[in-house]
Amino acid sequence: MRCKPLMLVVLLFVSAAGAGSVGAVGPKLGDNNGLNTNKHNLSSRNAANVTYAASPGDALGRDTQICIFCHTPHNASPQGALWNRKDTTSTFGIYTSSTLVIRRAGVPSSYGEPNGSSRLCLSCHDGITADLNVLGNVYVGAQIAFPAGKGKISGVAAFDANKVKYGHHPISFVYDASVLAAIQSDPLKNTQGYQLPSDTDPYVKLQKLQNKKWMQCTTCHDPHQNQTDDTATYPSGYAQGRKIAPFWVYGNGNSSDVGAGNASTAHDFVCQKCHNLTRYGFSNNSTAWPWP
Ligand code: HEC
Ligand code: HEC
Ligand code: HEC
Ligand code: HEC
Repeated sequence: MRCKPLMLVVLLFVSAAGAGSVGAVGPKLGDNNGLNTNKHNLSSRNAANVTYAASPGDALGRDTQICIFCHTPHNASPQGALWNRKDTTSTFGIYTSSTLVIRRAGVPSSYGEPNGSSRLCLSCHDGITADLNVLGNVYVGAQIAFPAGKGKISGVAAFDANKVKYGHHPISFVYDASVLAAIQSDPLKNTQGYQLPSDTDPYVKLQKLQNKKWMQCTTCHDPHQNQTDDTATYPSGYAQGRKIAPFWVYGNGNSSDVGAGNASTAHDFVCQKCHNLTRYGFSNNSTAWPWP
């Protein structure tokens, strides 16, 4: 029992090293000895490359590590894979749209407050003002210090209740055959090509929780890599120039992956695993969610 987490950690490091060697578009967390533009690398050593990085000089040297802001080998939180973060204290609510079938009475989608792995993301991305050192709020040991004004996410990457309710794709709902059937039989939805991703799809993953399959942040995002083509924005020339698919799940940089190396194609392939718009002649519709 006591050895199990340690073995998992060995696996963690092996897989990270392997992933870093493939020719992906953006830097993996551990690429270039951890000195890169990957925004999930919060090591103080990476301060010159990202907006949010720990303050140097932690007594235990934790500020120079990469994985520690999310994982710990010992005494991890039961919430996730060797998880090293305290749960978010925010209340978010759920995505609001009158056309959303998963919100209707009688549809078995269990749609409620963010749960499962989405809460792991929100432990940093909640951007709450109450705690000025959200990013350093690890589960094991004292907080890791961050420079003044850099302890919590602000701006477009912060997920407060408003963003969860109106600004991003719905998350933390069950998406299985019975929910699909309810969507397909809804008169407002019957031309929208909803379908289930395959159980063995390597990229678009539904989280198994309470014996059901849930859509979460990790259905679309992989927190370990950044495949964003930093120069590509959609639509090209749009003044705000938003990036297309940051920390995207699709493609691992292998040339055999469909959409590898192209944020725009990779983005659409993920959406189309569930929204088969090509059936209705929208094959060129690559509008990013949410737009604008
Ligand atoms: C910004 C947060 C974050 C950082 C930093 C991070 N991870 Fe993770 N990691 C996660 C999350 C979230 C999960 C759970 C994913 C899920 O449940 O789908 C996870 C899961 C894992 C898993 C389990 C397999 C998987 O992909 O689901 C491995 C292996 C792993 N991480 C390795 C690492 C290593 C090695 C590092 C340091 C180089 C690292 N992680 C840094 C967030 C992070
Ligand atoms: C340890 C804290 C932490 C955790 C946990 C975390 N993030 Fe982040 N994330 C950050 C920071 C810091 C940024 C950079 C924000 C900025 O620069 O504005 C970021 C940025 C991002 C971005 C934008 C990247 C870009 O290039 O624009 C995405 C997408 C993202 N995170 C998704 C996730 C998802 C999904 C999860 C959960 C699986 C997650 N994050 C968990 C800290 C975290
Ligand atoms: C249906 C897929 C999908 C899901 C689920 C999803 N995202 Fe995203 N996310 C995207 C796309 C696409 C973009 C980039 C396009 C855009 O919004 O401009 C994005 C962008 C982001 C960004 C960059 C800031 C921004 O808004 O552009 C962050 C941070 C982020 N997501 C975090 C999360 C977190 C945290 C969750 C879970 C609460 C989540 N995402 C769930 C698809 C998804
Ligand atoms: C794992 C499956 C899955 C993936 C991947 C996915 N979606 Fe969804 N999406 C759904 C489900 C299910 C709903 C809820 C439909 C409902 O309840 O009516 C939804 C809802 C939506 C809605 C809101 C529809 C409404 O009536 O309010 C939009 C827009 C949307 N998705 C766009 C996207 C885009 C763009 C992407 C890719 C970035 C994407 N989706 C990826 C399953 C998915």
